Amino acid sequence: MDMLISNSPEATVRLGEEWGRTVPSGTVIGLSGDLGAGKTQLVRGIARGLGSAARVHSPTFALLNEYTDGRLRLYHLDLYRLGGPDDICAAGLAEFLGAPPGVAVVEWYDRWEAGGGQVPARLRRVWIEIRTEHERLIRHADTGA
Ligand SMILES: Nc1ncnc2c1ncn2[C@@H]1O[C@H](COP(=O)(O)OP(=O)(O)OP(=O)(O)O)[C@@H](O)[C@H]1O
Ligand SMILES: [Mg+2]
Repeated sequence: MDMLISNSPEATVRLGEEWGRTVPSGTVIGLSGDLGAGKTQLVRGIARGLGSAARVHSPTFALLNEYTDGRLRLYHLDLYRLGGPDDICAAGLAEFLGAPPGVAVVEWYDRWEAGGGQVPARLRRVWIEIRTEHERLIRHADTGA
């Protein structure tokens, strides 16, 4: 388990950027954290690290945003409005939660995991905790090849 304290949105973006530079294709990055924890900030960094110039915004209404101008395709999912794996499958999102053709970053990954959704082949599980207005505790653990 890796642990880091972020003291600013920029520091969270920088962490994502580091990850984006090295993340292998086929990885699911599953994010947990309350509203305003900084999940979307982290995705901004991941996009940047992948070399994408896209402006990342939360796909809460679209469910899925796709950025194709980086080193790997980036699929940005937000499961907040979905109840669980049945809804997620019905929305056509399951294929991105197994072995995505690129990198899938998933806000509210708990919706899939807690409902018994299948564990991806390659998963970076991330938990962001709000400590104070600007301080976040960011933990992550990798599973799979
Ligand atoms: N250390 C920090 N890291 C990330 N964001 C921070 C930090 N400190 C303050 N913030 C603020 O917290 C907010 C995080 O917003 P963000 O949209 O990334 O959250 P989220 O986890 O995606 O929320 P939601 O569940 O609503 O999608 C931003 O307003 C950002 O400026
Ligand atoms: Mg968000």
